[in-house]
Amino acid sequence: RPVYVLNGPNLGRLGIREPDVYGSQTFEDLVELCREAAREVGLSAEVRQTDDEAELISWLHEAADLRISVVLNPAAFTHYSYALRDAIAQRTAPLVEVHISNPAAREEFRHTSVVAAVATGTIAGFGFQSYVLALRAIAGMEA
Ligand code: DQA
Repeated sequence: RPVYVLNGPNLGRLGIREPDVYGSQTFEDLVELCREAAREVGLSAEVRQTDDEAELISWLHEAADLRISVVLNPAAFTHYSYALRDAIAQRTAPLVEVHISNPAAREEFRHTSVVAAVATGTIAGFGFQSYVLALRAIAGMEA
């Protein structure tokens, strides 16, 4: 079964971007990890990244129309995008919010997620492993 792994702004710069916070592995490494972790639990991961809010919303519409589960790292949109929240609210399959870092342990503005309430659940703070855990959660829910 297909699963979308959707990533928001600045995540294409993993490895270069604040390595003390996000690690030294690249977005390509993350893509590989997700594909492999999905395969292990019988899913086929389509991994995408965009810096564009409109594009991310269009992918969520697509997932809703096709009834495809989603692992979503909304990046900074997490904290303020009501448009993204409204797109997630239309979901027709499980959606797991993931974060590489633990936003609750960081700056005050990261303590709010406007998308958490419309996600199935949230996994944060485990580095790239957050995605692996989310894929396993989705495989378990669909089984
Ligand atoms: C992030 C956390 C967000 O606060 C931040 O804006 C990001 C990445 C994470 O994966 O830890 O871009 O979503």
